[in-house]
Amino acid sequence: MKNMLSEEEAMMPMVAQGSHCTHVITVTSGKGGVGKTNVVANLAVELSRAGKRVLVLDADLGLGNIDVLLGLVPLYTLEHVLRGSHHLSDIIIQGPAGIQVLPAGSGLPQLTSLTDSQKLLLQTELEHVADAVDVLLIDTGAGVSPTVTYFASAAQETIVVVSSEPTSLTDAYALIKVLCRQHRERRFKVLVNMVKSQRDATLTFRKLDAAADRFLNINLEYLGYVPFDDYLPMAVLQQKAVTDCFQSAPASRAFVQLAKEIAAWPDPQLPKSTVQFLWRQLIHTS
Ligand SMILES: Nc1ncnc2c1ncn2[C@@H]1O[C@H](COP(=O)(O)OP(=O)(O)OP(=O)(O)O)[C@@H](O)[C@H]1O
Ligand SMILES: [Mg+2]
Repeated sequence: MKNMLSEEEAMMPMVAQGSHCTHVITVTSGKGGVGKTNVVANLAVELSRAGKRVLVLDADLGLGNIDVLLGLVPLYTLEHVLRGSHHLSDIIIQGPAGIQVLPAGSGLPQLTSLTDSQKLLLQTELEHVADAVDVLLIDTGAGVSPTVTYFASAAQETIVVVSSEPTSLTDAYALIKVLCRQHRERRFKVLVNMVKSQRDATLTFRKLDAAADRFLNINLEYLGYVPFDDYLPMAVLQQKAVTDCFQSAPASRAFVQLAKEIAAWPDPQLPKSTVQFLWRQLIHTS
């Protein structure tokens, strides 16, 4: 029966239901190198400081690097979990400010799609660790591979990171289009990164929003912006969150503010679609 599931049916919320519901936020972009991993690392640290229990899942399978960014040295990675040799609880490592990290591993061929059984395994494993987590932040790779769209669809919130470069906008639009047309996603939050000013951020957002409105009939949500900041690559060299090295840097202030806003989002109460809910029941009753 499991093998007969369509990709869509295999989508499911990545967290346990019941009294506690983890907020799952996927950060993605379409284009590579626009700052997803730095956004995830810094938001994770600041969400933790804002009182949230944060777990970061590096879903850039095969090319993961959030561990490197934060100066962590994992013994085991998600590859071990997907191979079935380890549990998620075996691979969790402690990061700065009390965050926890599920490293992806790198150096192996990029895993651009997961099988239904790998999705189920991950879901089941996540349910075991999600009880102690308020926010699960997922860092995806670039592109529109099935792995990327899976993690975006399985989250309650999708943050699309864009820069002002035209290629970033077209790739972000392509990703949103795939998620909208093929996975019926309609809610996207846009975070503009590496811009000079709020004005540039707003202009960049408006271009993407206009295209989504005109061709996909959806309205995007402006989450905010992180300015281009020379201190950020300096923090990367130190393998630390910029908020830990340069507290008053413009990017640090932006991350602190964004984390405050995200920490105030209302808790998710229900799986986001009936299909997912039914699929979830199916897992629990089979
Ligand atoms: N606000 C910023 N100001 C200056 N540099 C930045 C900013 N955000 C990211 N960068 C730089 O951009 C580069 C790419 O960042 P990052 O690795 O986070 O991107 P990514 O989207 O995760 O890339 P990939 O698609 O390869 O996973 C890094 O060298 C980082 O230092
Ligand atoms: Mg990255």
